[in-house]
Amino acid sequence: MDKVTTAAIEVRKHPGGAGAEVLGVNLNDLSDADMAVLRKAYADNGVIFFRDQTLTEDQHIAFAQRFGEIDINKFFPHIDGYPQIAKVGKEKEQKTNIGGGWHTDHSYDQIPAMGSILVARILPSKGGDTLFADMYKAYEALDDETKAEIADLKAIHSNSHVFGSKAYYDNPERREFANDAAVGSAVHPVVITHPLSGRKALYVNPGFTIKFEGRTREQSLPLLQKLFAHAMKPEFQSRFQWRPGSIAFWDNRATWHFALNDYHGEERLMHRITVAGVALH
Ligand code: SIN
Repeated sequence: MDKVTTAAIEVRKHPGGAGAEVLGVNLNDLSDADMAVLRKAYADNGVIFFRDQTLTEDQHIAFAQRFGEIDINKFFPHIDGYPQIAKVGKEKEQKTNIGGGWHTDHSYDQIPAMGSILVARILPSKGGDTLFADMYKAYEALDDETKAEIADLKAIHSNSHVFGSKAYYDNPERREFANDAAVGSAVHPVVITHPLSGRKALYVNPGFTIKFEGRTREQSLPLLQKLFAHAMKPEFQSRFQWRPGSIAFWDNRATWHFALNDYHGEERLMHRITVAGVALH
């Protein structure tokens, strides 16, 4: 097992293809040295997992603010009294979940969010895991011909098919999400140089990337679908099983995620804070 140990903190690679678990840390009591270990673990692994944490809402916000400003989501309902904390929930009687397909948060913004910090609040008795996929590995494993083909391409990312009227969330269970006034799009390089690690990563995702700049959707689909099918290969993925006290902190520029919807009849409630990022190149 690949390990990095600094004082009490251990960073242990997840046995799957993405992410690492950080052990021996209390997120309510972080020294500057601890923060340096967390920043490195985050940049190296794209998603870091924590267990047995006890963050209140205020402590969740304080932890997020150590990494940057909070980027308030324009569509998600927030929890009472905390506009910074998005409510990612599924009630017992609901059938649709949030994030139930491969995507990366906020890629439809021209300055996309750096990362998302998801805290488990109410969990089903079984199921409700989240899958993560590593977009550094996905890029690195592309053949040279495909790397050359996408090297200078840009892609359009949009959210109108998700959050607009007559779109995915405009259904009786989720109508509170639909907000035509806030929908929009952005253009980003298909291959980014990651602002923290300096490594190249594939930056297209099935949730929000709709076409390449200068091409129609029809012209774009064959290559987009080839990239999506490649990036969702099992060898780039990890499956995170939530427990009370679990937290996942993922980098939206280095990973995809997918919330599994396999717990009908039970409630699941997560609190999500999204940390602001920078323009991508
Ligand atoms: C999300 O897509 O942000 C939600 C992930 C999850 O609930 O596991």
